[in-house]
Amino acid sequence: PLTHATSSARAAGVAPFPEPTLAALRTIALVGMPGAGKSSVGRHLARRLGVPFADSDARIEARLGETVRSFFERAGEAAFRDLEQATLAELCAGPPAVLATGGGAVLREANRRALHEHATVVYLRAPPEELHRRLRHDTQRPLLQVGDPRAKLQQLFHERDPLYRETAHFVIETGRPSLPTLVGMVLMQLELAGLVDPSRVPSPVEPPRP
Ligand code: S3P
Repeated sequence: PLTHATSSARAAGVAPFPEPTLAALRTIALVGMPGAGKSSVGRHLARRLGVPFADSDARIEARLGETVRSFFERAGEAAFRDLEQATLAELCAGPPAVLATGGGAVLREANRRALHEHATVVYLRAPPEELHRRLRHDTQRPLLQVGDPRAKLQQLFHERDPLYRETAHFVIETGRPSLPTLVGMVLMQLELAGLVDPSRVPSPVEPPRP
């Protein structure tokens, strides 16, 4: 068990892994539109909780040796969704982590079910106007490389908002907060729900424990 590994690492003078902070030891999955902050919030949240961070798009890209955009354009959306479904199933079955999903992960019923059943799902919800402000110079999202990305974001938001809600256990209205504020909002929600132990989450301003 982890306590053994931790104390023997300490005895060996090796920096131990942080102790687990997820009370229920469930993966925390972030869902939401492109630009909602899933990857940035996920990376910081994982660090605060001392658990691994996984990003489904990054995993797909590592597997393919190709960017999502290039694969999407070359092989088509359905082929990308197949890979995405397989990757999410693997990540849901794996050890507890913080997981950032792709914005279209909720389109398939199988993914919605896998995420809802195997993870604590947090929907980072931002209005399409705000997403457009953040993504107006983006060149990496294949679905947004269109004449009117603002209208596209609005359309995607209206199609997907009910699906994100259906998949999620918690909805966080993001507005325009800073990244640390957003991470704090997610953590507070998880603490209130009894899913993480607040006494084990180090404050971002405290120096790391020796
Ligand atoms: C997609 C969002 C992307 C990526 C792919 C498809 C979508 O992820 O999975 O381009 O359908 O919204 P992000 O949400 O990280 O941009």
